[in-house]
Amino acid sequence: MSTAPLTSDHLPVTLPRLLEKKHLGEPLVMVTAYDYPSALAADKAGVDLVLVGDSGAMTVLGYESTVPVSLDELLMLAKAVRRGLRTPFLVGDLPFGSYEVSDEQAITTAMRFVKEAGCDAVKLEGGGPTSVARARAIVAAGIPVMGHVGLTPQTATALGGYRAQGRTATAATRVAAEAVALQEAGCFSIVFEAIPSAVAAAIMPRIQVPVIGIGAGPAVDGQVLVFHDLLGIREGRGAKFVQRYADILSEMEAGVRAYAADVRSRRYPGPEHGYSMPDEELEAFQHQLAQL
Ligand code: KIV
Repeated sequence: MSTAPLTSDHLPVTLPRLLEKKHLGEPLVMVTAYDYPSALAADKAGVDLVLVGDSGAMTVLGYESTVPVSLDELLMLAKAVRRGLRTPFLVGDLPFGSYEVSDEQAITTAMRFVKEAGCDAVKLEGGGPTSVARARAIVAAGIPVMGHVGLTPQTATALGGYRAQGRTATAATRVAAEAVALQEAGCFSIVFEAIPSAVAAAIMPRIQVPVIGIGAGPAVDGQVLVFHDLLGIREGRGAKFVQRYADILSEMEAGVRAYAADVRSRRYPGPEHGYSMPDEELEAFQHQLAQL
């Protein structure tokens, strides 16, 4: 890891800095990360926030959805991310089933993200009464909380699947009311996922904390994308809002294919990859071996 001294460009991002950027109209950049190398990439690229998303359940752990991932699994990912980050604000995603039961459960889980994984804040999904109560309890315990409304993958089944939300007047009003309730509960920021751009734009004047969009159009204060989506480390096209900036999965496959071909054709390893020893030591060794 780099040991370069911290310059003003590398000062850790703080809550006041995030708010300042909102007020200055400087777009906030958030990306997910799930391990040490993805954290290093995010850090070196100079993003503002990193989310250890429960999307890691699918992107790196191979689950079908975000529902089965355990708290311990996400904590392990978050610890690895922490080791790779210096500057960005680190948010840990509370997995499904780790905060809904009671305020005590929510606070205990959030504390683990802060104490064990070194997260600066946690995120929870939903803006209904349960999520709002849990957000308020965690904030009261001294841990910053990021809310998340619109498409909330942990409860996608109840929402009718992975589909855009807030597309009728009633549904859009519900999204707005949930965002305001999360803000009033003390959330320092809110994610708007997969809602019409016009709905996001109409809600924005009512939200004083930074809003990070994913499939919510340009009127919000910043954007988040899943690391594996934006770099093409997963198969398929992904959601409508995904923009691909690289095709790393193909690069990975090509690299492993070339390695396999070299091994099978004995092009690898070459003489330059082997270790040598003094001739007399080799001779002595062969002599000793013969006597074994
Ligand atoms: O888990 C995740 O990656 C998320 C983002 C899409 C906001 O919640």
